[in-house]
Amino acid sequence: ETLAPFTNEALSDFSQPAARESMEIALSDVRQQFGRKDPLWIGGEDVLTEEWLESVNPSDPVLIVGRVPKATTDHADRAVAAAKEAFPLWRRTSVWRRVDVLFQAAKRMRERRFELAAWMVYESGKQWREADADVAEAIDFCEFYARSMLELSGVRERNLPGERNDYFYTARGVTAVISPWNFPLAILCGMTMAPLVCGNPVILKPAEQSSVIAARLVEILRGLDLPPGVVNFVPGLGEEVGRHLVRHPDVSIITFTGSVPVGLDINQAAAEVPPEQRHVKHVVAEMGGKNAIIVDNDADPDEAIRGVVESAFGFQGQKCSACSRVIVLGGIYEAFKSRLTDAVGSLTLGPPEDPGYAVGPVIDQEAFVRLQQQIEQATHEATLLANVDPGALKDRGFFVGPHLFEEEPDQAATSLLGQTELFGPVLAIYRADDLDHALRLANATRYALTGGVYSRNPRTIARVREELEVGNLYINRKISGAFVDLQPFGGFKLSGIGAKAGGPDYLKQFLMPRTITENT
Ligand code: NAD
Ligand code: ALA
Repeated sequence: ETLAPFTNEALSDFSQPAARESMEIALSDVRQQFGRKDPLWIGGEDVLTEEWLESVNPSDPVLIVGRVPKATTDHADRAVAAAKEAFPLWRRTSVWRRVDVLFQAAKRMRERRFELAAWMVYESGKQWREADADVAEAIDFCEFYARSMLELSGVRERNLPGERNDYFYTARGVTAVISPWNFPLAILCGMTMAPLVCGNPVILKPAEQSSVIAARLVEILRGLDLPPGVVNFVPGLGEEVGRHLVRHPDVSIITFTGSVPVGLDINQAAAEVPPEQRHVKHVVAEMGGKNAIIVDNDADPDEAIRGVVESAFGFQGQKCSACSRVIVLGGIYEAFKSRLTDAVGSLTLGPPEDPGYAVGPVIDQEAFVRLQQQIEQATHEATLLANVDPGALKDRGFFVGPHLFEEEPDQAATSLLGQTELFGPVLAIYRADDLDHALRLANATRYALTGGVYSRNPRTIARVREELEVGNLYINRKISGAFVDLQPFGGFKLSGIGAKAGGPDYLKQFLMPRTITENT
């Protein structure tokens, strides 16, 4: 049987009544399950604890979406021991069997597509479209990494008379998967499936805020008849379980997506080699962004406004790829600022279970309080051009209205709006004298994740291609929403170390190349 080439999973079209109805039914079904409890999964066994992590609905936090046991460092140790024991068998399990796990997982996610999206609407505050895209991306990671593994699975031979030389890849070892809450299914799924298909047992430590959707992925994996210890689930506090896992001497790979401080701490911890450890840990870390879009004098204003607004406020700006700075050339500046002010001021704010709202709640109380303080600080440092008042919503859930600030470009090198990843619905606009100035401003951060330009001038586009320091550059379109395979995703500078997710080099990070020479 030949395998069809990879294609991206189509997104649901909610303008169609059938898709709308499926989503309504899924939301209702998930509501019936609110408060359900899922166990830890260690060495092929359910484990319960006395303490629970509760996930609440950020639109209405009195509603407990679900509970998972709060794993301790002892659970983490047991998970590492189980994974270590499973490693020799799993690494020798045939490639086809491992690949089939990914195809089966993709199939089950397709079957549960609306239900999985509904969990994210309630647990993460994702709009329907955002939640649907998250499930589609998770499916894409399975389908894509399965095919990548098949491509990498052969033996490369370079033979001489009397000498055989084999070059091939093998698994590295126990892998700790530490994931963020903002792409709670897709990123967790991609970071889990990649090491798994390579023959590495995995320990999943999802973000506290998205442990319930993580439990749904584990439920799918549990249904695939894997040997005990190949997949382990230890949701818990990052500071406790995450911190312990990354320092464990029997962990060989740490795959992390999250903030810069945590990523750097993990990288540092992984460099320590205690006497009992016989390997150097391999760290894959995808971190934050402070992404800019440059708008040229001749840009199509309608397209540029739409792209900037979607990039800045999609999922409340809580994407590593989100635009938080728009840098506009002098000739178009005043007109663009005025239109952008109107566009931001007219965004609608409300709970994401209702698909009519453009912007929903931020993830949790901590983000809600932090963002309000940061907005207050920004109000003293810059000029507030537009904001949407959450009104009574603010008393009900973690609603922070979209904000647009205008800041002096000279301040951007040191200011909050110019340098800090706020991870919320806050955008700053800057006036640039010319393209040199715009590029200098855009590049003046520690990050290099996404970026964009709106221009009709081929010379501008050529310069931005060459000079804007970003891992993913988008020209005349929004800067979020990368598709697996089409737009392999990831940054450099402090935005990350490692190969791009959903790209041709990703799996090699979870494999060790070996050479065997035989005198024949
Ligand atoms: P975070 O860094 O707070 O947490 C990420 C994970 O690390 C969570 O599972 C958390 O429990 C765990 N953790 C926390 N402290 C730890 C420690 N000391 N040791 C080990 N693990 C620890 O990030 P977040 O708030 O979940 O996610 C938002 C961040 O993720 C943003 O900075 C965003 O830009 C980034 N992000 C990057 C990408 C990318 O591809 N570059 C994608 C999504 C999100
Ligand atoms: N891959 C996600 C995006 O491109 C982070 O928005």
